Amino acid sequence: PSIVVLISGSGSNLQAIIDACLQNKIDGHINAVISNKADAYGLVRAAQTNINTHVVSHKDFESRELYDQALVEVIDQYQPQVVVLAGFMRILTANFVEHYKGKLINIHPSLLPKYQGLNTHQRAIDAGDEEHGCSVHFVTEELDGGPVILQAKVPVFSDDDADDLAQRVHVQEHLIYPMVVKWMCEDRLKMATDGAYLDNERL
Ligand code: GRF
Repeated sequence: PSIVVLISGSGSNLQAIIDACLQNKIDGHINAVISNKADAYGLVRAAQTNINTHVVSHKDFESRELYDQALVEVIDQYQPQVVVLAGFMRILTANFVEHYKGKLINIHPSLLPKYQGLNTHQRAIDAGDEEHGCSVHFVTEELDGGPVILQAKVPVFSDDDADDLAQRVHVQEHLIYPMVVKWMCEDRLKMATDGAYLDNERL
């Protein structure tokens, strides 16, 4: 199965998925990594493993619609079974999301439905939460709102700052995201109107 990964930054989740593929833990192949930013470090990680890279800069397009159409053209060359958003910091259009319906997944650094959007770690601290975490979910039109597939929890300690917490959550992200990509490649996950299913069991 063909995997395409979209990034904007460091790409540590991309790295976790690359490693899982190299170790044959995932029966799939990352055929392309696409970034909207030319200086994303994740592009270096991809090139180190001889994965095709593309930069599709949003600055070269007049509208979100045109940008997303350009992305689709690049992505579809690789006929992906799964399109993985790994720190891709762009809101996608309804047309894009519909085109990859059931194939498009994202990782978000909170226990969804809590803390959609940005600054999730600071928000968890400010709220006095005792636990925090990350979620892998199917992408729908609703930002950070699609059916949750898998979550991991971490404790929040009283002296944590946002960076401490982000680091603790990242360790978990790198465990759960490759696992979900593996299930996607095995065609075991389905998105339905009432949620996500693994092997026909509602998650
Ligand atoms: C992660 O925290 C992820 O949850 C969020 O963006 C960040 C990407 O980190 N969506 P990296 O580029 O994978 O290191």
